[in-house]
Amino acid sequence: MGEIISGKLLAKKIKEEMKLDIEKYNKLYGRAPHLVVILVGDDEASKSYVKGKEKASLEIGVTNTTIIMDSNTTEEELLKLIDELNDDDLVDGILVQLPLPKHIDQTKVITRISYEKDVDGFHPLNVSALYERRFGVIPCTPRGIMEILESKKIEISGKRVCVVGRSSIVGMPVAKLLLDANATVTICHSKTKNLGEITKEADILVVAIGKPKYIKADMVKAGAVVIDVGVNKDPLTGKLCGDVDFENVEPKASFITKVPGGVGPMTICCLLENTLNLYLKHMERKD
Ligand code: GUN
Repeated sequence: MGEIISGKLLAKKIKEEMKLDIEKYNKLYGRAPHLVVILVGDDEASKSYVKGKEKASLEIGVTNTTIIMDSNTTEEELLKLIDELNDDDLVDGILVQLPLPKHIDQTKVITRISYEKDVDGFHPLNVSALYERRFGVIPCTPRGIMEILESKKIEISGKRVCVVGRSSIVGMPVAKLLLDANATVTICHSKTKNLGEITKEADILVVAIGKPKYIKADMVKAGAVVIDVGVNKDPLTGKLCGDVDFENVEPKASFITKVPGGVGPMTICCLLENTLNLYLKHMERKD
């Protein structure tokens, strides 16, 4: 039987600690950290993610301004808003919810956010910092995954790790963090042949491929640690499910995360950690 790692409980504990820190810093600096979240359009999943970020911010005393823009918003209008927020001394973090409508160039928008306010860690300067092992902002989901592994003192050094998915938001950065923690990392993706043979060799399996219950029990090594990043709708029940066939994989795993309540809450928690760090650096620059 695998031990289920609750990202929800871990996030709760970290958020309680952050809340106390924020009370202290609020007194010291005269204001709380301020996160601005921008959503363009009315994608239902994005709306619920943005609401989750707002709720968590308020819980711990982070000021959250959520700006919802019409789906017809032009790239120019969005860039102008980002310029204003970059210049606003009362803003510490800016997050543009992805994906953006097709007529807006995502790379241009991400690059326009000041790297010093880039809470997602998607700006090229933060991406290069990660790849060059310099200090930058670490993307929220990969950071959350590392904190989940740390919370259970799961040894990474020397282990065989398989990351399924090569997105710039999750797969690539988490593979780099695991490599830096001295794992031997294999990255698999939709074109990988004999996926199951590769996943089966992994001591730690991280799955971020976006296919409901795709990883079956026969693709997992007995005793593996399984981290499920997927957020999908089960086509049979309509319920939320991960990329891992949890019911059948859980008995084989040593540790496993569940969807919901696993990686998702830690992603939001790390967004708040990134916001707090950028706020502290912002305050130091003003000293
Ligand atoms: N859409 C899905 N995941 C993310 C994320 O981590 N950050 C942003 N900005 N958009 C997302």
